[in-house]
Amino acid sequence: LPGLVVTLIIAYLFGSIPFGLFLTRAAGLGDIRQIGSGNIGATNVLRTGNRPIAAATLLLDAAKAAVAILVARTLLYNPNLPVGGDAALPLYLAALGAFLGHCFPVWLGFKGGKGVAVMIGSLLTLSWPVGLIFCGVWLLIAFTRKLSSLAALTAAATAPIFAYVVVDEWLAATAALLAILLFYQHRENIMRLIAGTEPKIGSEKKAS
Ligand code: G3P
Repeated sequence: LPGLVVTLIIAYLFGSIPFGLFLTRAAGLGDIRQIGSGNIGATNVLRTGNRPIAAATLLLDAAKAAVAILVARTLLYNPNLPVGGDAALPLYLAALGAFLGHCFPVWLGFKGGKGVAVMIGSLLTLSWPVGLIFCGVWLLIAFTRKLSSLAALTAAATAPIFAYVVVDEWLAATAALLAILLFYQHRENIMRLIAGTEPKIGSEKKAS
């Protein structure tokens, strides 16, 4: 049990690194929390107009979840055990820890991101086919509807189903937990989507 708690804490610390904030500041684009939706994620970094910095934010936010899971694997996971099932619980805990760290970072007064990149990084690391399906659903909705939040909400809502079909109920439960948290973090986006005021990708209109 102490090992699981340490895993959770280490993963939280990796997840809490606010790459979006660091990169926009380093690029001289100002404080991302004062721009657009105020979110520290790649979608909002894109609103600065700097695509490379937005792409780097997406990559690094996904990578920190992957690193947290790989650290958990190295520390706790017995590679001789079969993949999937409750034996992989430390890896699922690491994904949860990274997600909580990203969304509720102690360094930013617990006001962090919305978890999309972290969910992508986690799923790709835990089961790359499930991660690729998540990206596919995201891209499909993003390109057809031009709404980043709707794309993420759809991908997250369908992820537990694909996780169940491709892997097992343990990964499905993990994906469901992450999806619930992701929906909670998107509560303002959901209200704007219902009201029809959510800004489209590439539009000049900024969210309040
Ligand atoms: O799912 C995309 C999400 O990150 C939306 O970000 O900045 O539009 O609230 P934002």
